[in-house]
Amino acid sequence: MNFKQEIKKLEEKKAALQKEELIEKQHQKGKLSAIERIDLLLDPESFVELDPFVESRFEAFGMSQKKVPGDAVITGFGKISGRQVYVYSQDFSKIGGSLGEMSGKKIVKIMELARKTGCPLIGIIDSGGARIQEGIASLDGYADIFKNMVKSSGVVPQISIVVGPSAGGASYSPGLSDFVFMVEGISQMYITGPEVIKAVSGEEISFEQLGGADVHNRKSGCAHFLFKNEADCFSAVKKLLSYLPQNNLEDPPFEKSFFSEFFERENYNLLKIVPEKEEKGYDMKAVIQEIFDKNTFFEIQAHFALNVITGLARLNGHVVGVVANQTKFLAGTLDIDSSDKIARFVRFCDAFNIPLINLVDTPGYLPGKEQEHQGIIRHGAKVLYAYAEAAVPKISLILRKAYGGAYIALASRLLGYDKVIAWPSSQIAVMGPKQAARIIFKREIAESDNPKKTEKEKIEQLREIFLNPYEAAKMGQVDLIIHPKDTRNILIKCLESLLNKREQRIPRKHGNIPL
Ligand code: HXC
Repeated sequence: MNFKQEIKKLEEKKAALQKEELIEKQHQKGKLSAIERIDLLLDPESFVELDPFVESRFEAFGMSQKKVPGDAVITGFGKISGRQVYVYSQDFSKIGGSLGEMSGKKIVKIMELARKTGCPLIGIIDSGGARIQEGIASLDGYADIFKNMVKSSGVVPQISIVVGPSAGGASYSPGLSDFVFMVEGISQMYITGPEVIKAVSGEEISFEQLGGADVHNRKSGCAHFLFKNEADCFSAVKKLLSYLPQNNLEDPPFEKSFFSEFFERENYNLLKIVPEKEEKGYDMKAVIQEIFDKNTFFEIQAHFALNVITGLARLNGHVVGVVANQTKFLAGTLDIDSSDKIARFVRFCDAFNIPLINLVDTPGYLPGKEQEHQGIIRHGAKVLYAYAEAAVPKISLILRKAYGGAYIALASRLLGYDKVIAWPSSQIAVMGPKQAARIIFKREIAESDNPKKTEKEKIEQLREIFLNPYEAAKMGQVDLIIHPKDTRNILIKCLESLLNKREQRIPRKHGNIPL
C-alpha cells in the first residue's frame, strides 16, 4: 500500500463530498445548510463527522436514482460550551432530507453512542419524512429511531430543532423529544400534509396554518420554543443545555451568579407586585424575577397554556424547575393544556435531578362542560401522578389561593411535598367561601328572613375559618408561615436542606401514568 497515495485519495473523496453540499439550494429557501447549522450550534472546530461515506442503496429497492453521499444526513459529535453532545442534521437539499435505510442507521448509531456515553442528543430536522423510494426500509428506519428515543428517554436529554418541514415520520422524533425548538416561517410539523388533507376531507389549509411554528407553540403544545431566526434558535439550545445535566446520573451544573454570591436580598418588592385584593391578578413572572437569581429564569412553553408558567432558573446557583400559576390568565386555574404542560415538565425535571419549586396562587381546576368532556379528569390526573412520583426535592410556596384539587396537586405535603411554605395571605380551602356557603348553608340561607344578609354572614364566617394558612399549619401541613420579604432566603435554605434527598421506590416494571 502506498500511504501517500491513499491519503491523497481520501482527500479527493472528501473534497468531492463537500462539492455535493447544495448550500445555495438551502439559502434560496431562506434556510441554513445542514453543516452550517452544526457549525452554528457547536464550539468551533469541535465537530467530528461520522459515516460521511455511507451511501443510499437505491439499487436494493429496484430504483436507478443517483446515489446520495451521506444519505441526506450529517451525523457526529462535538462540544457545546465544552460539554460533549451527539448531533445529526438532515440535509433537505438532498432528496428532501428524507429518511432512508442508511440515514436511519446513521442516526441510530449516534443515538446509541449518546446513550452509552451519557451525552445529550440533538436532532436538527429538515425532512420530507419517510423516503418513498425505499418503502418499508425507510419506515423501519423510523421504527428503529423511535425505539431508541424511548430507550434514551430519561437517560440523556433529547432535543429536536425543527428548521424546515418535519413531515410524516419525521414529526415523531420531535414528538418523542424532551424539547422541541421551532423557527417562524421555516419550521413545519405535520403527520400528513395539506395535499393529503384536501384529498381526504376536502379541507384546504396552508403548511403554515397546518403545522407552522406558531401553531405548535401556541395551540397544539407540541413545541416548546419559538424563534424569529435560526441563529437565535441555536443560541437558545445552548442556553437550555447550560441548565441540564449530561445524563440522569449527574446533577445539573451549579453556577453561582455575582448577585447571589455577594448579597442575599430581601424581597420587599413582592409586597408591591402581589395585590392584597384576592380577585386581582398580577404578573407572576415579576414574582419569579424577584425571587430567583437575577436573569436566570428560562421559560419553557412560553406561548402555550398561559395560565401556568414553567421554566428553569437558578436559586443561589442551584438549577431548579419552577412551576407557577399565572393569575393574569384564567385566574391561574389548572385546565387540560396547563395540566399537560406541568406534568411533562415535572417528569423531565424528576428524570434529570432538577428540584421543583411551585409558586401557588390558584382557585383550582377550571370548571366547565368543555373541560369535563375533553377529559380534565384524565389530564389533571397527570399532574397528580407526576408530582406524587417525582423523587427530586419538592417545595411549594403558597402566595394567596390554594383551593381544592389544585392545592392537592401543587401544595399538599401528603402528595409528597418536602416543604410547604405559606405567606400570611394564603387561603387554603376546599373551595372559595362564596361557593362553599351556597353548598353547606343552602337550607339556612333559603329559610332565612333575609337570605342575602345570611349568605353574606356565612361567607364571612367561612372566610374567617378557612382563608388563612394557620389551620393547615396547626395540622403540620404547612411547615412555615413567612413574611414575603424573606421568601428568597427561606427558599434557598429549604432547597439546600433537601439537596441530598434520597427516596426509595418500590420495584416494579413501571407505573401507569394517565395519558
Ligand atoms: C422522497 C422526497 C420526499 C420523500 C421530499 N422529497 N419528500 N423524496 N421521499 N418523503 C424530495 C422531492 O421529490 C424533491 O426531489 C426534493 O425532496 C425537494 O422536495 P420539494 O417537494 O421540491 O420541496 P418543497 O416544495 O419545499 O416541499 C417540501 C415538502 C414536500 C412539503 C416536504 O416535498 C412533500 O410534501 N414531501 C412529502 C411529505 C410527506 O408526505 N411525507 C410523509 C411520508 S410518509 P427533487 O429530486 O425534485 O429535488 C411517512 C411515514 C410515517 O413519513 C407516517 C407517520 C405518521
